[in-house]
Amino acid sequence: MPAKKYVSSSVIRRLPRYYRFLAELQKEGINKISSGDMSARMKLTASQIRQDLNCYGGFGQQGYGYNVSELRREIGEIIGVEKKLKAIIVGAGNLGRAMTIHFDSSKNGCELIGIFDINLQLEGINIAGVEVRHMSKLGAFCDKEKPEIAVLCIPKESAGTVSETLISCGVKAFWNFSSYDIHLHYDDIIVENVHLADSLLTLAYSVNNDKGRDDDI
Ligand code: NAI
Repeated sequence: MPAKKYVSSSVIRRLPRYYRFLAELQKEGINKISSGDMSARMKLTASQIRQDLNCYGGFGQQGYGYNVSELRREIGEIIGVEKKLKAIIVGAGNLGRAMTIHFDSSKNGCELIGIFDINLQLEGINIAGVEVRHMSKLGAFCDKEKPEIAVLCIPKESAGTVSETLISCGVKAFWNFSSYDIHLHYDDIIVENVHLADSLLTLAYSVNNDKGRDDDI
């Protein structure tokens, strides 16, 4: 069945959680789960799960529940896990190195094809099998390899110029750790901003305000 035209961002943000949860079930050798069990294990209501999956046509069978591998395959297809979008990291400092080491192409729908830095001293070093290239090589590299995603692990002050260069090189989407607001300048570019400190602040708020678990995602 075709997907609904509009899917809310909270549903989209839950898809990776379903995908990960179903992988865990597969690891446990479970290949069938009732909506009740799924709801109890994920701490989401059965109706929430049904509504989420109905955005994409619905997959369970009345009285049977969900086929785990089938549902995981379908959700993987919706996310596009197998498409392996080409990604590069810009900034080979502490964060960029950690991102490179933990970049898991088998789980994140992207393939890391390069890492770039302005610092000449980093040129040529190998991080988890990926060679650091100097920024002066970015244009030629993008012409040839056509990366679609850039992971920005550079300071905010550099991010304006760097994102402009990357967009002119054909990059369409940013996983942005830089705190620079790319959306203010380009509304047609896809940006996922990540602020780990915001997550910690949310936790601090919950502790300080005695707030229970947030089941939204
Ligand atoms: P770092 O100083 O270790 O690394 C930054 C790297 O960016 C350096 O290797 C530097 O040569 C490179 N760089 C600077 N300007 C560049 C340019 N124009 N083109 C290419 N490379 C350039 O810093 P770290 O710890 O890796 O952090 C990087 C940035 O990420 C910082 O701004 C930090 O605040 C931010 N950050 C954000 C987090 C988040 O959750 N959003 C978490 C951790 C860090």
